[in-house]
Amino acid sequence: MSKVLVTGGAGFIGSNFARTALTETPHTVTVLDSLTYAGNSASLADLDPARFQFVRGSITDASLVDQLVADHDIVVHFAAESHNDNSLNDPSPFIQTNLVGTYELLQAVRRHDKRYHHISTDEVYGDLELDDPARFTETTPYNPSSPYSATKAGSDLLVRAWVRSFGVRATISNCSNNYGPRQHVEKFIPRQITNVIDGIRPKLYGAGANVRDWIHVDDHNSAVLRIIEAGQLGETYLIGADGEKDNKSVIELILTLMGQPADAYDHVNDRAGHDLRYAIDSTKLRTELGWTPRYRDFEAGLAATIEWYQANEAWWRPMKAATEANYAKAGQ
Ligand code: NAD
Ligand code: TYD
Repeated sequence: MSKVLVTGGAGFIGSNFARTALTETPHTVTVLDSLTYAGNSASLADLDPARFQFVRGSITDASLVDQLVADHDIVVHFAAESHNDNSLNDPSPFIQTNLVGTYELLQAVRRHDKRYHHISTDEVYGDLELDDPARFTETTPYNPSSPYSATKAGSDLLVRAWVRSFGVRATISNCSNNYGPRQHVEKFIPRQITNVIDGIRPKLYGAGANVRDWIHVDDHNSAVLRIIEAGQLGETYLIGADGEKDNKSVIELILTLMGQPADAYDHVNDRAGHDLRYAIDSTKLRTELGWTPRYRDFEAGLAATIEWYQANEAWWRPMKAATEANYAKAGQ
């Protein structure tokens, strides 16, 4: 049994991780989260207080971070500013949270010699051509495109330097696009599902040929648990479930699953610097750590996600109007 400190655990992936860790391991979980616009304490409301506690605070608060890290065995670091479109409008919180916040955590795990797992994204590698047979591997050179992916790349490199220079006991994972319950309605899939529920036409950036490699959030988190359990210190693991889909097909599938004509969507302004394609080769994780994804049927996973948003309107409704007002300003 370990005491696990989960940063950003009121967000999409971190809240699902807290839930999975409490169900599938004997560990206790403390979530440290500052509850930005993206954090939602409702995502944690039903967790067992005997093994779970919530601390509201920022990963940039050095003394709070030091105190919490000292009192735990392992840090799993999800907290981030996570949305590309926001990083184009105002990069400043991305610098603070993704770079300075990661620095504070690394200094604390170094001082107290604690195990650290760093959650990152495949977007640090930049993008691939649509017709390129290649996929990202652990040796693909870093080439981030947006302020979001550049700060995530910088945070990964800080971790590598703290491993090499200070002997910090860390692993890194870079995962592809996640879908599933409790994802903020600013993100592609929940935005379109909640638009259809509200009678708004889904919004496709540009022509929608861009490809994302979708993975269910529970598969991402089962891989993270496996890396914490058996990963080699200092190593990076790519997490992916062979889920490449172009955005146009995903919008059409959402509309069809929700009983609407497949072409009932709008093309809106494209994102500046929009990455064309992401694709993960997760051979290392599968062969060295024996991990396999459980959600192999994207259509079934998407249908279950639609049902979750239909059944949990109280969870997403408070964020919807402000999110759409922001997109409207950008013609999106
Ligand atoms: P999210 O935006 O849903 O959640 C982020 C959480 O971090 C929120 O609860 C927010 O309140 C919290 N937070 C932000 N700044 C903080 C600070 N300074 N101190 C403490 N807490 C703070 O993000 P997500 O989609 O759950 O992503 C989690 C992690 O996974 C991020 O590191 C992201 O880069 C990575 N990731 C995400 C995806 C994806 O598809 N969403 C894919 C690969 C990797
Ligand atoms: P997003 O969920 O923002 O994830 P990321 O930028 O990390 O890949 O977007 C996924 C894809 O969907 C991306 O190619 C941009 C596109 N997109 C739309 O076409 N319409 C939308 O309303 C949004 C939010 C995204």
